[in-house]
Amino acid sequence: MKTIIEPFRIKSVEPIRMTTREEREAALDKAGFNLFKVPARDVLIDLLTDSGTGAMSSEQWAGMMRGDESYAGARSFERFEAVLQEITGFAHILPTHQGRASERLLFEVIGGPGLVVPNNAHFDTTRANAEHSGCEAVDLPIAEAKDPSSRHPFKGDLNIPALEALIEKVGVERIPAVMITITNNSGGGQPVSLGNMRAVREVCDRHGLRLVLDACRFAENAWFIKLREPGQAHRTIPEIVREVFDLADGVTISAKKDGMVNIGGVLLLRDETLFQKASELLILTEGYVTYGGLAGRDLEAMAQGFQEVLDEDYLAYRIRSTAYLGEKLLELGVQIVEPPGGHAIYVDAKAFCPHIPPAQFPGQAVVVGLYREGGIRSCEIGSVMFGGGGHAAPALELVRLAIPRRTYTQSHIDYVVEVFEALYAKRKELRGLRITEEPPALRHFTARFQEL
Ligand code: F0G
Repeated sequence: MKTIIEPFRIKSVEPIRMTTREEREAALDKAGFNLFKVPARDVLIDLLTDSGTGAMSSEQWAGMMRGDESYAGARSFERFEAVLQEITGFAHILPTHQGRASERLLFEVIGGPGLVVPNNAHFDTTRANAEHSGCEAVDLPIAEAKDPSSRHPFKGDLNIPALEALIEKVGVERIPAVMITITNNSGGGQPVSLGNMRAVREVCDRHGLRLVLDACRFAENAWFIKLREPGQAHRTIPEIVREVFDLADGVTISAKKDGMVNIGGVLLLRDETLFQKASELLILTEGYVTYGGLAGRDLEAMAQGFQEVLDEDYLAYRIRSTAYLGEKLLELGVQIVEPPGGHAIYVDAKAFCPHIPPAQFPGQAVVVGLYREGGIRSCEIGSVMFGGGGHAAPALELVRLAIPRRTYTQSHIDYVVEVFEALYAKRKELRGLRITEEPPALRHFTARFQEL
């Protein structure tokens, strides 16, 4: 059969409700045109993020009931630790409440003023945590990453000549780690090839530098490696995943993505001293080392989720169903970041509304348009997210349609495509916005806008 179906059936359902256009206008007004401030009950299809929004399996829910809530040394921690050790090969595993908690610990132990952290593309919280510690966060994508229509199979790759040039310029002593984000969330959910990661490791070895992975979507990245990278098709997902982790000295993971849970994170460090320091900080602000700010039941859900995500039927369905949305949008003439990413489709907002200049946030105009037209919540990844705090406008103005894991069916996605069709037909009517209120950092969460 050529149809790739959802490899599960539905056991529990959650109602969603359509609003009227008037209700949506009122919600937009009240939220200052910021979709983070629109209550979820007023959203029909929520594509704001794939983070913590997925459906858990019956085995994960069963694990929740088995959760051992002992303060120290719980059985649930032992299971979590054993699963993560098996998958990643790391001996030292710290649970955290989510990815940014791992990032905060990491940068508190390796960051500091005057240091520089290169990455293929920092996600916003990684950048904010690096900068909070005093580091400068530098993105080094390959040239193809800036061209939405380029079909390069691994647009998430880190630009090796640019990395060498940076090391030459700032000196190894100012680089606490080289980072790679898999998949590259800020630049289209694009994968990083194994070849690129091996090459970055080689550069790090030559200069005595640490390599740290931001591995939120490590399984989706591994699936792309299997599908697209010459010589990898015969390997199993656990084999590929293990090779990737073997390259790293440290790893931050938000388990809200490929960990398939609603909350949770992981920090992995090979170095004993760094691990000790991170453990002390974890105890100071998150919780004891065997729960890290989570409940025992959360550790059970993570242990199960990290195993389920390696299932090839699941990954085939996951990547194929995201591509389905991307292909339908391309058929309509909507330019997306090609090829379709793993966890999300990224619409090129500059191409969607060329009449709106970056200073008037074309991505936000599309986000507002999708909600007004069909109750769909999406997320701007462009000048609103990255342009604040004196940063230059980013190369791409994108709107992300993130697909929660195992949550929406094909007819939900067909509806999204229909809303796009309607909005595309009247895209010339979309209006730019201006910011009326904004905080000093991470402004996209709380800024208020006015339509121009
Ligand atoms: N790194 C990447 C690549 C991410 O995508 C995220 C979260 C984080 C780190 C931080 O993890 O949210 O658990 O603290 N991304 C979410 C998103 C928020 O919508 O893409 P967290």
